[in-house]
Amino acid sequence: ALKFVGLDVGGTTMKAAVVDDYGLAGPSVSLPTEAHRGADVGLETMCETIRRAVAASRLTMTDVAGIGVATPGLMDIKLGIILDPPNLKPWRNVEIPQHIRKVFHKPVAFQNDANAAALGEHWVGAGKGAPSLVLFTLGTGVGGGIIVDGRVLEGEHSHGGELGHLRIDLPDRGRLCGCGRRGCLEAYASATAVVDRAREDQAGYRGPTRLREMLAADDVSGVSAKDVFDVAAQGDLLAQKVVEDTAYYLALGACAVMATVDPEMIVFGGGMTAAGDSFLAKIREYALRFGLAYPASKVQIRFAQLGSDAGFIGAAACARQLVKQG
Ligand code: BGC
Ligand code: NA
Ligand code: ZN
Repeated sequence: ALKFVGLDVGGTTMKAAVVDDYGLAGPSVSLPTEAHRGADVGLETMCETIRRAVAASRLTMTDVAGIGVATPGLMDIKLGIILDPPNLKPWRNVEIPQHIRKVFHKPVAFQNDANAAALGEHWVGAGKGAPSLVLFTLGTGVGGGIIVDGRVLEGEHSHGGELGHLRIDLPDRGRLCGCGRRGCLEAYASATAVVDRAREDQAGYRGPTRLREMLAADDVSGVSAKDVFDVAAQGDLLAQKVVEDTAYYLALGACAVMATVDPEMIVFGGGMTAAGDSFLAKIREYALRFGLAYPASKVQIRFAQLGSDAGFIGAAACARQLVKQG
């Protein structure tokens, strides 16, 4: 069977694995991204991660039919460049797939990280067999991916599915987003935003809360969004408010998606898949309250299934489509 390498480049690490024609992944390997060391080092690290993934599956490059590379945007997929990468600044405008193609002499697909993850979830994850699917993925940023008829909706300028930058608040007073604008969903629902909101909310909260102690003891990197979700599940009222608000913000994103794409399924991935089904129920509740009732009552709302493998499995899925359909 055909084999593909999927490479998922993130702000701190890049991860790759060989994935077969049925979506089964071999052992994954990862290397630190270290974008600050510049584009040449970065491109070489990408190639090295690909080589190691192939070796980890006890294969050689001749076994590989194609390579898929996923990177966080904003990007121009056709030109093969990242336009304005907050976490990968030195790689701005660097031609990524072109380089990898030159090194390995293979077809190379290039895709937005969340678009790829959505394709991965559609292929072998939460959305298997769904006619259409929209993914929100929550990490350092909020990623989005739209799959219709089994294909990524890239848009004419590669910004299809940039759902983190859907506006859920007014641009002159909303929270500040990594893209430099105000009111984007990402500024409310990213992992960073969840912790920031927790910090702000505690000021007006009088009751006892474990979360406040955690935030107070925190130096720089201590409390994560997952911590907030965990203590909420343990009954912390302050954390529960932060989680409730997160569901509300995500529901507003879902409402926008229902009015534009009206997908069969909306999938939520990233840090909060541990939040449990009650979190999904809350999102639906808000979506029914603030969105179009008919699609909100019908749409399937689920958690993603591939975890942090979604990126490289999805990148491999992009390579597979490139090789099979041209
Ligand atoms: C970027 C997206 C990316 C997401 C997750 C956002 O800030 O605009 O392109 O998919 O972060 O990495
Ligand atoms: Na996207
Ligand atoms: Zn934004």
